[in-house]
Amino acid sequence: MDYRLSPSLLSADFGQLYEDVRKVEEGGADMLHIDVMDGHFVPNITIGPVILQGLEGKTKMPFDVHLMIEDPDRYIDKFVFENTEYISVHQEACTHLHRTVQYIRSLGVKAGVAINPATSLRTLDEILEYIDMVIIMTVNPGFGGQSFIESGLRKIYELREMIEKGGYKVDIEVDGGVKPANARKVLASGANVLVAGSAIFSAEDPVKETKKFMDILKGMK
Ligand code: DX5
Ligand code: ZN
Repeated sequence: MDYRLSPSLLSADFGQLYEDVRKVEEGGADMLHIDVMDGHFVPNITIGPVILQGLEGKTKMPFDVHLMIEDPDRYIDKFVFENTEYISVHQEACTHLHRTVQYIRSLGVKAGVAINPATSLRTLDEILEYIDMVIIMTVNPGFGGQSFIESGLRKIYELREMIEKGGYKVDIEVDGGVKPANARKVLASGANVLVAGSAIFSAEDPVKETKKFMDILKGMK
C-alpha cells in the first residue's frame, strides 16, 4: 500500500505561504492538502483557485483538493491544475454524487468522497467502486486545530474491510486532529493517507515535524 502525508495548508501562514510549502516539501511530504470552504457548507471561507494558481509552477507537489462547498459541480474544473492529483467532494453536498465523481475523473483527476463524523459508511456502498479515495473526517469540517473524534477509528477499520471485500483500489485519507501521537493507531486501523494541519504548521519546526510523520509512515511500509 502507498502511505502518504498530505499537510493541510489551512494552518500555514498565508503571509508566507510559499515558504511554508517549501518547508513541508523539504520535510519529504507527499502532497498538499487544500481546504476549500465556502461559508455555506461550513462556517468558514478559505482558499480559492487563485491561491493554487499562485503556487503552480513553484512547487512540484501534487494538490489534494478537499472541497467543503455546496454544489461543488460549479467549481470543480476551476481546481484542475497541472499539479492537481485528487479532488474530493463531500457526500453530504452532492445530490448526484455518481455524476460528480464521473465528472472529476473525466477531467483526468482522481476522485475522492469525504464523509462527516455523523455520516454513515453505508452512504458509500454504491459509490466505492467509482472512486479513488475516501476522506474520513475525524473532526467536523470548518476549522483546523480541533480534536480527533475517536469513533473515526472504527469507521476507518470498517471502511478498509469494505474496500478489501469489494477488491477496490481506494485510498483512505484521514482528516482532522491527526498528530504524531495518534498517527500510528490511525494507520493501524487501515488508513494510508494522513492529513495534518496544525500539528505541522503550528509546530516550532515544521520541517522536523513533517519528518516525524514521514518516519511513522515509513515504518508502515
Ligand atoms: C477541517 C479541514 C482539515 C484541517 C485539518 O475542516 O478539512 O483539513 O485543516 O487540520 P488539523 O490537522 O489541525 O485538524
Ligand atoms: Zn481537509
